[in-house]
Formats: sequence, structure tokens, C-alpha cells
Amino acid sequence: MTATAQDVTFTIQRSETPKSAEERAEILANPGFGNHFTDHTAVVDYTVDADGNGSWHDARVEPYGPISLDPAAGVLHYGQEIFEGLKAYRHADGSIWTFRPDANARRLNKSAERLALPQLPEEVFVEAIKRLVAEDQDWVPSGDGEALYLRPFMIATEAFLGVRPAREVSFRVIASPAGNYFGGELKPVSIWISRQYARAGRGGTGAAKCGGNYAASLIAQMEAESHGCKQVLFLDPFNDNAVEELGGMNVFFVLKDGSLVTPALSGTILEGVTRSSIITVAREMGREVVERKITLDEWRDGVASGEIAEVFACGTAAVITPIGLLKDETESIGSEDAKAGEVTMAIRERLLGIQTGKVEDTHGWLTRLA
Ligand code: COI
Repeated sequence: MTATAQDVTFTIQRSETPKSAEERAEILANPGFGNHFTDHTAVVDYTVDADGNGSWHDARVEPYGPISLDPAAGVLHYGQEIFEGLKAYRHADGSIWTFRPDANARRLNKSAERLALPQLPEEVFVEAIKRLVAEDQDWVPSGDGEALYLRPFMIATEAFLGVRPAREVSFRVIASPAGNYFGGELKPVSIWISRQYARAGRGGTGAAKCGGNYAASLIAQMEAESHGCKQVLFLDPFNDNAVEELGGMNVFFVLKDGSLVTPALSGTILEGVTRSSIITVAREMGREVVERKITLDEWRDGVASGEIAEVFACGTAAVITPIGLLKDETESIGSEDAKAGEVTMAIRERLLGIQTGKVEDTHGWLTRLA
């Protein structure tokens, strides 16, 4: 059984203890990434009845706070969890907009299919975001490169230890004011090559946005950080060390002829909404964009010969962040002191321009939230 937004009506329970205007202003003055949360959360529950029919119900916006879960809840044992990331942007006239929420809703459902979680109607996904942001609109920052990061997620809440898909599930959205993901001013980051660990394998969950993929990336991310790097690069060691993705973002290369290359969607990497938007925007800017296999050897040789002029990371959280150096114990490709590339920054400005209302949205990518 599928539900529509018409069937799912949100009730609103306002927080009795919202943060004070002073406390909020202090947070918004220096939001960082993912450290502070707004006053409310949106929730929609799902239950499968005795006849095997599932339905979404009890849609609500309620005060932000701890979730009460049975210790046997499926998410705690078998990791049946998926999530999304998108942002709410404040435009110059004070209005608040989000970017391609339908694309995030569709990807959530692809992830849900892979993780044997229920399909959530796209309208319910968007409605949950609208209702939450309507309540917490004072939390949307207006600084350059800042936004309210929205984190929708779905978890198995049924208490049951057999290994099977849960019959009780909860979809939730939380929100967190965000500045630069990597902190401070935007500057090229260093990336660590993971040789020992892979992020995903054929037939696995690499194309799904599930917590398990990120859990599996953490040991490599710790290794990266211990070598002074901000992110880790995962390769496919069974496919000529093809470049896959970073711990939490996709990768693009700008070649010396001005064209762009990004790893093709192989089933083991995430189809980033930012990645797909960059492909469209760059083509509109007159650039050729090719999705294909690109190996570590090609990255190394391309930087050495000048064939590769710029490299950047992209994602909702990272937006577009230049990559300066790629390294491991045996080699260094590029330079820590590299400057942000011109093409990288031009695409970043254009994409952020659309998101923040400074550049015309010719694709209908923006949805007004408040
Ligand atoms: C995002 O860009 O939204 C991500 O999910 C990356 C990371 C913060 C997990």
C-alpha cells in the first residue's frame, strides 16, 4: 500500500524550550558543520499490519530530542538505516528554498529498496521538509556558503532479533545550520589514498546512502586524518584501481582542454545530486563532461603531464571543494599549497548562485519552503 501526502497530515507540537534568540544568533555566527540542531524534528512512522499491508502514519513535527527506541530495534543490530542530505538556502529577499528535493526523495527510495525498507512517497518527503523548515526558519543562515543542512533518515524501529526486514520503521528529518564542511575558509584539501580498505563491492550497498557504508569508511578516514588529510579516496582494487569516491563525496577532474571527467556510476558509488547537477551546469557552461572509468595511474600521470589541470570534490555538504594533494605512504600527487582552480570555482559559483537565487533557475530545481 502506498500513501500520498494527502493521506499523511502533519500535526505540529511546538517546542516549549526552544533555544533563545541570543543562543541561536551565537550558533549562527559560526555554525561549523553538524554541531548544532534546530528546535524541531519531523517524523512519520510506518507499520505493516497483520495482513502484510504497510502504511505511513502519525506524521508530525515535534520538539527536537532523544528518540526512545527498544534495545532490540532492528537499526541497532542489523543497521537497517538510510539517510539523505540536502540544504535550505536563504535568498536575498529572506525567502527560503531547497534544491532538487525530488531527486533526494527518489534516491532515498532507491536506498530503501536496497536496504529492504519501505518506499516513502516523494510528496511526504518534501512535505516533511517544508513543515520542519516552516517551524525552524529562523535557523536558516544567510552568510556566504551557509545554509540549513537537512538530514532525512529512515530507521528500523521494530523490536525483533530475527534477521528480516522490520515491520515498524520511522522516517525523520533533523536540521543543522551549516558553514564550510571542512571548517574555516574554503581552500584546497589533501586526500589520503586508502590501499587497505574498500568502501563497497559489486552487488553490495555502495550505490545506496546507508549508514553502514559510512561506518565502513571510518577506519580509513581515521588513517587519512592521522596523515593530515581531510578525506579518504577509495579505489576499486579489482578494477585497475579505478577511482570510486571519497569518504563522503564524489570526485571531478578538469582536463587541460577544459573538459570534465567524473567516475561513471558503476553500482559501487553514490549517485550524488550535486554530482548530477554539476554535470548539467558544466555542460550549460559549454564544457564537455564525460562519465567514465578513471584510474589512479591516470590521475598520477595526468597531474605530472599537465593533462589534469584541476581536481575537486563535491557533495551537498562539501558543495564543491578543490583538492590540492593526493597522497599515501609511497607517493604525493599534486601539492598541498595548490590554489583553487578557476574552472572549479566558476562551477561552484554558478551552482551556489542557482541555489541561493543569484543565478536564474532554468531547470525548476528550487522549491520554496518558507
Ligand atoms: C552530504 O553531502 O550530504 C553527505 O551526506 C556527506 C556527509 C556529510 C555524510
